[in-house]
Amino acid sequence: MVPLLSQEQCHTRVAIDDRFFDLLRKMILELSGISIPDNKRYLLENRLAHRLRASCCASFEEYYYLLRYGTGQEQERTRMIESITTNETYFFREPAHLQALQQAILPALVQARRAEGQTTIGIWSAACSTGEEPYTLAMLLRGVGAQLSGLEIQILASDLNESVIRSARRGIYGENSLRHLPASLRGDCFVPVGGGMRLRDEVKSAVRFANLNLLDRERLMLLQGMDVIFCKNVLIYFDLAVRKAVVSTLYDVLAPGGILMIGQSESLYDVSRSFLPVRVNGGVVYKKE
Ligand SMILES: C[S@@+](CC[C@H](N)C(=O)[O-])C[C@H]1O[C@@H](n2cnc3c(N)ncnc32)[C@H](O)[C@@H]1O
Repeated sequence: MVPLLSQEQCHTRVAIDDRFFDLLRKMILELSGISIPDNKRYLLENRLAHRLRASCCASFEEYYYLLRYGTGQEQERTRMIESITTNETYFFREPAHLQALQQAILPALVQARRAEGQTTIGIWSAACSTGEEPYTLAMLLRGVGAQLSGLEIQILASDLNESVIRSARRGIYGENSLRHLPASLRGDCFVPVGGGMRLRDEVKSAVRFANLNLLDRERLMLLQGMDVIFCKNVLIYFDLAVRKAVVSTLYDVLAPGGILMIGQSESLYDVSRSFLPVRVNGGVVYKKE
């Protein structure tokens, strides 16, 4: 199935025709929930160009059949999806939500969970990309030990894309990721290394990482009882049906009284009526009543 191409052929830019554009985006939707609109043909052509070259496929037709029937298809499908995801993120993104967590949500949760006799509070960053979001939470929560009165905060971070998870586990970041990091945390939480800043082990060890697909309801349901879910800046890549399915799973994973946070430019309008939208510190969060 894998054709032998010359070096020159391997580097030619390839266009995708209607049929294979539709077949490929259907496959991407099924595997990841990511919806590629009609006018984003160039996105597939650009982002998959290097996968075609690496697989030495002369056309998207060959590449599609390789993914569908070729040997090692599982691995190439994973690489294909990794090439499609948008992983933009940075430390201390969307500070209104971070303040809301620190000043209002967490104190209320601590009080409620203590009254219920719980020993842990679970926070899940559900599309964590290269780790800046969960590590931001770990940095914020370093200072709240005294308020916790014996409760332990556990931070889980996951993403569909295994390569960003690997990068998150390494914990080395460039200036682009650090552009909104408060100056005082630079020295406290990072050490300079060649070509970047490495997170100190005490911050790194506060976060557990996993490779999880938001479409995989069965596995996600194992996380039931979460108190806070950050599912930010990922729903925008899904169509309405997938958003509804994912948000319904997140609702079921949350403990009663738990909070869902989505990106500040995202909305649950039309997606779910189950949550109570609550305005806290200038940001909207969604509460499971
Ligand atoms: C733009 S990043 C958002 C990162 C972070 N939450 C933030 O707001 O800065 C979107 C992430 O969603 C992940 N993603 C896309 N589809 C996913 C799925 N079906 N399951 C889990 N993660 C997914 C991508 O791999 C990417 O890392």
